[in-house]
Amino acid sequence: MPALVLLGAQWGDEGKGKATDLLGGSVDYVVRYQGGNNAGHTVVVGDQKYALHLLPSGILSPGCTPVIGNGVVVDPAVLLSELSGLNERGVDTSKLLVSGNAHLITPYHTTVDKVTERFLGSRKIGTTGRGIGPTYADKINRVGIRVQDLYDESILTQKVEAALDFKNQILAKLYNRRAIEAGAIVEELLTYAEQIKPYVADTTLILNNAIDEGKVVLFEGGQGTLLDVDHGTYPFVTSSNPTAGGACTGAGVGPTKISRVIGILKAYTTRVGAGPFPTELFDKDGEALRTIGGERGVTTGRDRRCGWFDAVIARYATRVNGLTDFFLTKLDVLTGWEQIPVCVAYEIDGKRVEELPYSQSDFHHAKPIYEMLPGWSEDITKAKTFADLPKNAQAYVKALEEMSGAPISAIGVGPGRTETIEINSFLS
Ligand code: GDP
Ligand code: IMO
Ligand code: MG
Repeated sequence: MPALVLLGAQWGDEGKGKATDLLGGSVDYVVRYQGGNNAGHTVVVGDQKYALHLLPSGILSPGCTPVIGNGVVVDPAVLLSELSGLNERGVDTSKLLVSGNAHLITPYHTTVDKVTERFLGSRKIGTTGRGIGPTYADKINRVGIRVQDLYDESILTQKVEAALDFKNQILAKLYNRRAIEAGAIVEELLTYAEQIKPYVADTTLILNNAIDEGKVVLFEGGQGTLLDVDHGTYPFVTSSNPTAGGACTGAGVGPTKISRVIGILKAYTTRVGAGPFPTELFDKDGEALRTIGGERGVTTGRDRRCGWFDAVIARYATRVNGLTDFFLTKLDVLTGWEQIPVCVAYEIDGKRVEELPYSQSDFHHAKPIYEMLPGWSEDITKAKTFADLPKNAQAYVKALEEMSGAPISAIGVGPGRTETIEINSFLS
């Protein structure tokens, strides 16, 4: 079982950090393959809580080598401050590897992110403002700056000038902002270069060798399937591919090397930022899910939008990712409801639709069709096996599994490392 992908099956914040950390003790490498510090992954170890943004969650497992792959966008200031924050808490980060091909988020990318959102007004995406979209845009436009450019001042200067020549026209003429001076950006980037150098490596070579040697490699997605730029609710998405294929391009590992793809699935649904969300609740149930589930963004502190479980989305995640397993999280949050609605299909223009519509307009008009499942009131946070769960909680899990198209191999019953019911081992 050498290479596994672990990714979000909904709109992010499914509990990927906890799931990765849980496996971290048994894997040799944990690799971020896309996104950047727009992610917010919470890991609870004993009485310690860690919020990771850019670093892979495997950084908290001593035997594991954390890797930032070529598909990630790296804000060097954030990288260094996250590392020093962990060092201050006694976490050894010396094993970290960063791809020399990863693109850098610079101060002009965060500026462009923020002014673009302001310019869009009511049509804004609700980005995290971390410069993610503009950095990926520069990558695709071939005017990006890569980690390796930090080690050739002349090339770095030429590339920053080329990127800013165009951007400054837009900043000044369209957004009425002051132009950004290339020299100041180069100077700032060079202050990070030597501190980052010890981590920079040819990560695709290292990871392919590791897989060939039978080492266990875990690819940790940021965001989620419905935030994928190709397969998500475009344009209300992030600018990268959190779906399983992104692990291949974002880490330089071929699809034949991936043996298992695990979708992290919350027992209900949440979303941050703008965009369609068929099962969203605007009533006291939505408020209760938010309060009980602690649904507040780790990165931006925004309240998460909350709604019931959506099986159409789960089936879609199974399809576009080729999921082999689900890890169902936060089942404990649903304790106390007499009946729990689950969306089994949509009604669109009077017709019942079983699959996620490819048309954005249809998805905007999708009304959830609910089936009511009986709830439970017993505390489940101490459950260690499936049999420990109350009958109705077991039935809820079985119903979700049936509707979602892949086996549920683990269940989260609390935020801590040990608050997990393992049904099938991910590493066998
Ligand atoms: P990520 O972005 O997918 O890593 O998820 P976040 O960390 O943004 O949000 C998930 C939240 O749920 C975090 O606060 C976790 O500590 C918490 N969490 C994860 N699994 C469980 C679970 O099974 N039960 C409960 N109650 N909380 C969980
Ligand atoms: P984790 O890894 C939830 C959302 C933003 C916005 C959209 C685009 O913690 O699950 P961006 O800054 O990426 O250009 O914003 O994507 N978004 C997330 N939502 N969890 C995340 O990460 C997210 N990362 C980005 O709210 O709607
Ligand atoms: Mg998160």
